[in-house]
Amino acid sequence: MEDWNARQYLKFEDERTRPPRDLLAQVPLQRPRLVVDLGCGPGNSTELLLKRFPQARIVGLDSSPDMLRKARERLPQCIFLEADIASWTADPATDLLFANASFQWIPDHPLVLRRLLQALPTGGVLAVQMPDNTREPSHVLQREVAASGPWADNVDVRSAPRADLPAPEIYYDLLKPACTQIDIWHTIYEHVLATPQAIVEWFRGSALQPYLAPLDAAAREKFLAAYAEKIADAYKPRFDGKVLLRFPRLFIVAVR
Ligand SMILES: C[S@@+](CC[C@H](N)C(=O)[O-])C[C@H]1O[C@@H](n2cnc3c(N)ncnc32)[C@H](O)[C@@H]1O
Repeated sequence: MEDWNARQYLKFEDERTRPPRDLLAQVPLQRPRLVVDLGCGPGNSTELLLKRFPQARIVGLDSSPDMLRKARERLPQCIFLEADIASWTADPATDLLFANASFQWIPDHPLVLRRLLQALPTGGVLAVQMPDNTREPSHVLQREVAASGPWADNVDVRSAPRADLPAPEIYYDLLKPACTQIDIWHTIYEHVLATPQAIVEWFRGSALQPYLAPLDAAAREKFLAAYAEKIADAYKPRFDGKVLLRFPRLFIVAVR
């Protein structure tokens, strides 16, 4: 994954922080001592953890130096580590592993989830949310633009599309043998955004990164212009000019 741009990501902070609030509301812990935010980004999800568990030691982990810089500025009282979730191992005393919108980027992530869950102490919780939106127009159109422009043969652009998430049953079969309770659900958000262009800006801070990172500045602008045209066609303004960004997300809360 290329480095992330925290400023672009935070343009939609309110909307992006709603899923971690909904995830945290289902975490059945009262006074955890050690909490880790996996893929903490600029610290928006970490801040929720700190508010809910002020007595806990809170650690944020991310692979992006830019995100970590922002997170450290925002929450100097927390510890932030640069690491790759795929190979990271939790302290055996960890009570909560919280991961909002990060595991979808990790290759073979169901196996990484199982490994992390198995290493938790009894009663420890793994709480995860991932976008399940690869079949939405927002993502179909990213793939269309990637396949049709002068970048179509670029190896990195070709490997940019994110795979569909596995079905909930796959997570259940993999994780349930390692836990006492599991709760899996989908929520579909309908984010109200000011214009179709706002949808482009939203994904410039996340899903478009792997497409844009391999391109030079001029090709990036062309890619974004072609995507914006398709988005404007697919997401029609409502009566007040605003658009609804339909956004399905998958949630998992597993108790060891
Ligand atoms: C969409 S942001 C989520 C930020 C925050 N958790 C939130 O709730 O908004 C995803 C974050 O995961 C991080 N990330 C992606 N792959 C990672 C990996 N393999 N190891 C660590 N962090 C990773 C990215 O750098 C990015 O900051």
